[in-house]
Amino acid sequence: MNSANILNHLETSMYGRSVDYYESVESTQPLAHDAAQAGVPDGTLIVAEEQTAGRGRLYRPWSSAARKGIWMSLIIRPTLTPQQAPQMTLVTAVAIIRAIEEVTGIEATIKWPNDILINGKKMTGILTELQADPDRVKAIIIGIGMNVNQDEEDFPDELQSIATSLKIATGQHINRAKLIAGILRYLEQYTNMYEKHGFGPIKLLWEGYSNTAGKRIRAVMLNETIEGVALGISEEGLLELQLDDGSVRGIYSADIQIQ
Ligand code: BTN
Repeated sequence: MNSANILNHLETSMYGRSVDYYESVESTQPLAHDAAQAGVPDGTLIVAEEQTAGRGRLYRPWSSAARKGIWMSLIIRPTLTPQQAPQMTLVTAVAIIRAIEEVTGIEATIKWPNDILINGKKMTGILTELQADPDRVKAIIIGIGMNVNQDEEDFPDELQSIATSLKIATGQHINRAKLIAGILRYLEQYTNMYEKHGFGPIKLLWEGYSNTAGKRIRAVMLNETIEGVALGISEEGLLELQLDDGSVRGIYSADIQIQ
């Protein structure tokens, strides 16, 4: 894979039109933050074949084996308020699901807030970070880590029972450049839709792919754990949970266990 491969498949007007490609980096995420601060154009993509210190949500380590996955950070500058920015994780999840479906025929599911699963195992994680003034988004950095061509033995032992790849799911080697181009096309389309029409249309798509709606779940948060039935997501992107006393709680961020 290289920048030219990606550009060959690209059908967007902005996203991915400028690509910074690296063989090996610690993490694409801080590089993207620096690039955003330096003023790179909307849709600039930082992509690496390998990350030696990839990170996930809550600074957890993210395994990013060389040439097996998609390890990338996209810098976008949509016209959104800082309050609307976290929903970009959900916009991105829908875009990724659609691209996977188009390229592989597989229908993956979304586990709120940022996991994409196949057969109950994690295949993709999304890390959305923000650069903003109090009333204006300057840039959103969307980090996407996608397990594509790993075989089971390519995952560290502790991940083998909980992680999967598109190759494991389909039995086929997948063209990563084509998949990146598909993700960027849907993401550009859905981000435009979100800017113009708000979160409603995305929410409908998202709920169709969610694996939690109607299920009893446990939500583990930083200082509290609660259980209830997942109802769906709110207009603000919060997970709505009906507790046993009938009350409804909106959750910003948590680790979700399906009961
Ligand atoms: C998660 O599930 O916790 C999010 C994982 C995000 C991983 C991606 S890989 C590209 C970018 N660089 C990083 O270090 N992390 C994100």
